[in-house]
Amino acid sequence: MSDPITLLLPPTIVVGDGASAQVGEHARRLGGRRALLVVDPFFVANGLAGRIAERLAAAGLDVATFDGVEPDPTDVSVRAGVATMAAADADLVVAVGGGSAIDAAKMIAVLHANGEPLDQYQGYHRIPRSGAPLIAIPTTAGTGSEATQVTVITNTAAQTKMMIFDRHLIPTVALVDPELSASMPADLTAHVGVDTLTHAIEAYVSRIATPLSDPFALSCIDLVGRYLERAWNAPDDREARSGMALAALHGGCAFSNASVGLVHGMSRPIGAVFHVPHGLSNAVLLPAVTRFSLDGAADRYAVVARTLGVAGPEHDDRAAGDRLVAALDGLNERLGVPRLGALPQVDEARFAATVDKMAQDALDSGSPARNPVVPTQAQIVALYREAW
Ligand SMILES: NC(=O)c1ccc[n+]([C@@H]2O[C@H](COP(=O)([O-])OP(=O)(O)OC[C@H]3O[C@@H](n4cnc5c(N)ncnc54)[C@H](O)[C@@H]3O)[C@@H](O)[C@H]2O)c1
Ligand SMILES: [Fe+2]
Repeated sequence: MSDPITLLLPPTIVVGDGASAQVGEHARRLGGRRALLVVDPFFVANGLAGRIAERLAAAGLDVATFDGVEPDPTDVSVRAGVATMAAADADLVVAVGGGSAIDAAKMIAVLHANGEPLDQYQGYHRIPRSGAPLIAIPTTAGTGSEATQVTVITNTAAQTKMMIFDRHLIPTVALVDPELSASMPADLTAHVGVDTLTHAIEAYVSRIATPLSDPFALSCIDLVGRYLERAWNAPDDREARSGMALAALHGGCAFSNASVGLVHGMSRPIGAVFHVPHGLSNAVLLPAVTRFSLDGAADRYAVVARTLGVAGPEHDDRAAGDRLVAALDGLNERLGVPRLGALPQVDEARFAATVDKMAQDALDSGSPARNPVVPTQAQIVALYREAW
């Protein structure tokens, strides 16, 4: 007999156009009386935050709004959110936005319940108590944060992105409403879509992948192969937006249970130091890291290639893996993803001065230990240079 395996998911997941309109009934069912609405400022301006607040009010809840969420949320903004939550005496948190708003809301809820210092929770399984219930409404497709036991918070003093992993971070309800992603501009669609694909590939080839995480990973890869470029080409393609919203959810279900790997390990330091959007920094690394990792899981990478539709039964595992790397390079080219060195945020001198620290931070995050080939610090430095 093999060892028992576990799958952790949000207890309630609702998917489909209009799902976000159910927020009031779920808030009431959870017994909420005072909600903290953690919202990306974009959705304050476009009116969605107001409509969500109205639905919560109509369900009988008082609503306090915190809209101080920035991309790659920081410990500073999380603390401001906790202060708003405490002042409102909120007993329920509702997050509306991309991975940044959802991650901030997760951390606000658990920090409110467990107290400072925030950075003591970095790493795995370090949160003693659950926070207030969280209803997550994603607007990018996306990080899959609505389904994961992960939050990523920037440590402003250390200039690192802290990966915090604990079952108390899993949202109580995920309301996945594909319509909300239709307003994403093309670049954002591309970047978050490659993030989604990276979650699924890294989860499928992970050293701790299981038969419970694999189906989510493969579904995600299949959906990305069919819908990412369609959504990127035609923002109003509703079928493609729905496909990518489901892909993002499945990618989150996969990696939350099987981990991400070396791409994410290396991507977070780029985000922390240079403020490159998360999906974009994954995209620039994905081909090189895949090439590096192929030999560690040739059979699994071949399944990825076949599921993505870039290799067929006529290709053996090695050929399928090579075709996968070429396809990922080609995808970046078509989506306009530049090389690391061509990103406007990345200054060459600063890169040279920080690449050793970035490689060490990548290793310290723990994600590279899940990769099919576990790299040394020197190999990570070489991979950063290869992506340059
Ligand atoms: N917790 C997890 O499981 C997990 C997984 C992957 C990534 N992350 C983290 O999530 C963050 C990235 O999240 P993201 O990629 O979803 O982007 P984001 O939430 O940072 O948003 C990026 C930008 O897009 C805008 N935006 C969001 N939705 C939009 C929409 N529908 N239309 C127009 N504009 C919109 C936002 O206002 C923001 O300016 C990073 O900090 C990353 O580390 C977390
Ligand atoms: Fe990611």
